[in-house]
Amino acid sequence: MIKRIGILTGGGDCPGLNAVIRASVKSALFHYNWEVYGIVDGFDGLIQPDKIFKMDANSIRGILPKGGTILGTSNRGNPFKYPVKEEGRIVVKDRSDEILKNILKLELDGLIVIGGDGSLNIAFQLYKKGANIVGVPKTIDNDLAKTDYTFGFYTAVNTATDAIDKLHTTAESHHRIIIVEVMGRDTGWIALNSGIAGGADIILIPEIPFDVDKIINKINERNSKGSHFSIIVIAEGAFEKGKDKTYLEKAKNEGTLPRYGGISNYLAMVLSKKTEMEIRTTILGHIQRGGTPTAFDRILASRFGVEVCDLIARKKFGYMVALSGNNIVSIPIEESISQQKFVDPYGQLIETARKLQISMGD
Ligand code: F6P
Repeated sequence: MIKRIGILTGGGDCPGLNAVIRASVKSALFHYNWEVYGIVDGFDGLIQPDKIFKMDANSIRGILPKGGTILGTSNRGNPFKYPVKEEGRIVVKDRSDEILKNILKLELDGLIVIGGDGSLNIAFQLYKKGANIVGVPKTIDNDLAKTDYTFGFYTAVNTATDAIDKLHTTAESHHRIIIVEVMGRDTGWIALNSGIAGGADIILIPEIPFDVDKIINKINERNSKGSHFSIIVIAEGAFEKGKDKTYLEKAKNEGTLPRYGGISNYLAMVLSKKTEMEIRTTILGHIQRGGTPTAFDRILASRFGVEVCDLIARKKFGYMVALSGNNIVSIPIEESISQQKFVDPYGQLIETARKLQISMGD
């Protein structure tokens, strides 16, 4: 018998997290008559459980359109490789047993983990150690395998498209090249979709390493046809053929990720050696992670939030919800985290971009 569940959000935040929380809490409280406990700041909240609180209708009032997560999150504290200070230096420790003990102590019959690849990986490892976990896939990057879309992605694409529209007019007025850097450390989903939606001239993604001369050819071709400006949309994880990726900061220790940001400035520097045109760069950064979710993302998040409670009711632990076509389905978490969803360089969307005369920089 399920009586009490917990819910947490892990990894980078994403528009629509609150919509999932609201849907799960509503379904758990009013459909299933379960008690719900909110776990604060991702898995950290299960290592230091002092801030865990009982959720009721008041906890979720008015949160549907809100960005961020009312539960807080963290993308730095992997419990299996938890950084702790010992004798003045940082060492990583496995603190997963503390989490399992606290789940027992709190008498949680099920735990909903809303997270991206990192958090779902942790969730799967905890599940293998005996925790009753179910997952909800989340990331603006849309790079999680086995789900057609993650909520938050289209909100980020809208934000980036809006920025591209604004930069378009100023680029045209000043006859400049403007480089817009969007998120996507491993995949080019945001860059490709916002680039097509915003009418970019050149789109650069990690799946297709770029060639500076090809970019210059495209800019020159546009100039010769009377378009004396160009918009380049670049994913933060894109890189030049034969070169390494550009980082703002390398991974500090095991269990953390490097920080991206700055490839647009590198590109501006190499382009400036080959063109007289003025170049400006805009790094959109965390703006893409904030804001109110679009209607599409609110609906997807609400469907995920309701369906994940059904997984608990059916005791399908170790599973996560996913979108397949128009249906919400359940798949083993392991299947999603064992691969990443990349843009297919030979797929339909790339072909569409090319036929729209967008250069992919290759
Ligand atoms: O949500 C994924 C992501 O947006 C990546 O594209 C980006 O590199 C990363 O998060 C940045 O996250 P943070 O600055 O919170 O570590």
